[in-house]
Amino acid sequence: VSRILPGATIGFLGGGQLARMMALEARRLGYRIGVLDPDADGPAAQVADFCVVGEFGDRGAAERLAARCDVVTLDTEHVPCEILEVLEQSTPVRPGSAVLRVVQDRAEQRRFLDGLDVPQTRHAEVADLDSLRTAAGLVGLPGVLKTRRSGYDGKGQVKVASVEGIGAAWDAIGRQPAVLEAFVDFEMEVSVLLARDLEGNVRFYPIAENVHRNHILHLTRVPAQIAPELARKAEEIGARIAAGLGHVGMMAVELFVTRDGELLVNEIAPRTHNSGHYTFGACATSQFEQHVRAICGLPLGEPTLFGPAIMINLLGDLWQGREPDWSAVLSLPCTHLHLYGKHAPRSGRKMGHVLVSGESAGQVARIACAVEAALDLDQAPTVRLAP
Ligand SMILES: Nc1ncnc2c1ncn2[C@@H]1O[C@H](COP(=O)(O)OP(=O)(O)OP(=O)(O)O)[C@@H](O)[C@H]1O
Ligand SMILES: [Mg+2]
Repeated sequence: VSRILPGATIGFLGGGQLARMMALEARRLGYRIGVLDPDADGPAAQVADFCVVGEFGDRGAAERLAARCDVVTLDTEHVPCEILEVLEQSTPVRPGSAVLRVVQDRAEQRRFLDGLDVPQTRHAEVADLDSLRTAAGLVGLPGVLKTRRSGYDGKGQVKVASVEGIGAAWDAIGRQPAVLEAFVDFEMEVSVLLARDLEGNVRFYPIAENVHRNHILHLTRVPAQIAPELARKAEEIGARIAAGLGHVGMMAVELFVTRDGELLVNEIAPRTHNSGHYTFGACATSQFEQHVRAICGLPLGEPTLFGPAIMINLLGDLWQGREPDWSAVLSLPCTHLHLYGKHAPRSGRKMGHVLVSGESAGQVARIACAVEAALDLDQAPTVRLAP
């Protein structure tokens, strides 16, 4: 394995919060950082050595970034594969175009998972209104209609409650190629977070439990309250997917746990993931450092969790004309505030998160409740006190 050692330069295609946190960790390790982003003062650009200003779909700009870097990685899986293929001819790109080609198209992703015989949500591909009607018959309703490309944070997806709602759903996603999935009345959502290195070694973080509000991650709790056999099954599925893709770096696999105790894969994220933010503060090696180690050919770090933790997302909605009361949050014990340096707190936009990391599940749940109360986030009782 050829190692890319500290002192070398890591390039990020996209300069959002994931790139920011990877850059912060990479800097601590002694790497130099370059970012491609439209905003020279965006979350990652603020902590980088240099920023190439441009869209991540701008081939010339991507080439200018790569020319100054020893390895290139991604902040988002929505970078055009054609650009990655060009960069790969001169610079290692990890993960590369072969992984992205499968993952950035929901239909391709489903076919790949079918090929691996991995259990997943019932689904059918949709090309037009007619095939959507056929898909509804095959998959059953209620369902969730998702665009094949460019979805994130619940964007590009809509619930289809009944046959009467089919036309409206097709319009709502902008009449574009899509996948219809059966709506899963799940018991719990979990994610498998793993890192895979250049030699195929895999390290797992503890399975995380995720609670969404309006299709956006609201909080993550670790360790997830699931049976050890189920956790092992989830890990086996994650490892099979990562190896099948030939992935290098961090990867998250989102799964539903059904009321019958079955696991169904929802989707693959070939990168650091929001449900792994807790690792930055609550684990011996954060997912951001782990990703840097993997793509640089360094030994993977210990994923060990120090103790129970809850991560709460801070969305732009919290601002409402005034800055949230950070003092109230910071006065609580075991609480760590992460803000991403975004300028405009738009509704639904991920602006930061709070990590509560402590000794016992009960203590962490009580403090997380207090965080929610301090920020007026406690309308819905999503943080249940642990037994
Ligand atoms: N088939 C389904 N049945 C029930 N709930 C679903 C289904 N699909 C999606 N959801 C809910 O919506 C959330 C977001 O869906 P999904 O992960 O597909 O979207 P996304 O836009 O790619 O989000 P992200 O990339 O932020 O995870 C899921 O975590 C789940 O809570
Ligand atoms: Mg998701």
